[in-house]
Amino acid sequence: MAQEFERHTPHDPLPMPPPMDFPEEGADESEVLSDVHARIAEDPFSVERNFGITYVGPPHPMAERVATLTRGTYFVEWARQMNPGAYAFEKEAIRMMASLLGRPEATGFITSGGTESNMSAMRLARNLGGKSDPEIVMPTSAHYSFRLGAELLGIDLIETPVDEQMAPDMDAVMRAITPNTVGLICSAPEGNFGQLDPIPEFAKLALEHDLYLHVDGAFGGFILPFMRELGHDLCDFDLSVPGVSSFMTDGHKLGQLPVATGFFLIRDASLLEAVPLDWTFIHTLTATKPGDHAATAWAVMRHLGRAGYRASTARLLESVRIVVEGIESIDELRLMVKPLISVINFTSDTVDMEQVFNELSARGWGSTFGHMNGHARIRLSLHPYRDADHAHGFVEALRESVQAAG
Ligand SMILES: Cc1ncc(COP(=O)(O)O)c(C=O)c1O
Repeated sequence: MAQEFERHTPHDPLPMPPPMDFPEEGADESEVLSDVHARIAEDPFSVERNFGITYVGPPHPMAERVATLTRGTYFVEWARQMNPGAYAFEKEAIRMMASLLGRPEATGFITSGGTESNMSAMRLARNLGGKSDPEIVMPTSAHYSFRLGAELLGIDLIETPVDEQMAPDMDAVMRAITPNTVGLICSAPEGNFGQLDPIPEFAKLALEHDLYLHVDGAFGGFILPFMRELGHDLCDFDLSVPGVSSFMTDGHKLGQLPVATGFFLIRDASLLEAVPLDWTFIHTLTATKPGDHAATAWAVMRHLGRAGYRASTARLLESVRIVVEGIESIDELRLMVKPLISVINFTSDTVDMEQVFNELSARGWGSTFGHMNGHARIRLSLHPYRDADHAHGFVEALRESVQAAG
C-alpha cells in the first residue's frame, strides 16, 4: 500500500476480518476490557518510538481532564441553544485561532479535521464563483483531500507542477487560470516534505483575477506562528495576507489536541452567504460534533498560550535538529530536502531504503516508507511529544539499521 502522499494503486483489497455475529448476550465488562487491552497491545510501536505519523503523540494532559468534564456534550449549528457552553467554546476557540493567524475578526468552525475543512473551502469557492463548469487550480503537492472534494463537488481540479523540492511553478499556476477558474489552493506547508508554498504570490494572483484563495495550513497553523516568534524568517502565510479567503489548520497535528479537531477560518462572514443555509442548515460537511473537542481546544489553548506553544515548538525543532544531524552523520543517507518544520525525508544512493525501514521496524521504531520522484524514501513526521532523548534513540536505531541493511 502506498504512503499517505503518494498515488495509490487502484483498489488495494480492503482488509476486513471474517464475518462476525452481532452478540446475542452481552459479555462481562472485565472480559471486554481485557480484549481491548490485548488489541491495543498489538500496536507495533510504542508512542515514544513512532516517528512515522504526527498524530501518534498523546494530546496535552489538560485535554484529557477537560474531555472528562465535557464528555457527552455536543455542538451543532441548528441546536446551539441546547448546548450553549459547547457552542461558546467552539466560537471562542475559533476567535483565538483567528487572532493567532492574522485576522482576529475572521469567522469559522471547528471541523473533524483537514479533509472536512478543505472540502468546505472548495464548496465556498465554487458557490461564490458562480460558474457552470468550475475549475480550481492547485500545485500537485497539495493534499489529496482536494481531489476528493473536486470529485464530490463537481469541480475540475487543475494540478500544476512542482519541482523536486516541492516549490510550485508559479508561471504554470498563472497559465492554468481560465474564465472558469473559481479558486486557487496552496499549502502552508504541503505535507510531503513540509515545504511552505509562496502564499503572497498566490494571494497576488487571487486578487488580480478576483479568485477565492484557500490555504491548507494543516501542519502550519500550530507551528509557523511560533517559529516566527522564535525568530525564524518565513514568508507571510496566513489571513494577514490580503487575498487569502480562508485558512485551515488541524489541532490534532501539532496543536496537541485530540484527533478530529480541525479549524476552518474564513476571512469575512459575508463569504458565508454563498452557503444555502435555508435548505441545509450546515456550513461544513458534518453536523453534530463532540462538544469535548471544542472544550478541549479552548482549554488547551488558554492553558498553554503563545508562550506554551513557543516552548513546545522550540522543543520539537530541537528533536528535528537532532534527527537531521544524525541523518547527515550517516554516510549512506541523504536528506531529500532541508526540513522547514517537523517533516523529514531521506533517501540513499547505496543502501536499500526498504530494508532500512524494515530494520527500524524490527527494532521497534516507526517510520513510513514509500517512493517520491523515483527515489525510495523514509518520511518522518515528529509530534511535539517527542523529546531529545527520543530523537537520540531514533538516530541510534537508524545507524544500526543502515549497517544491518548495508
Ligand atoms: C497538508 C494536509 N492537509 C490535509 C490533511 C487532511 O487532514 P485529516 O487527515 O485531518 O483529514 C492532511 C493530513 O495529513 C495534510 O497533511
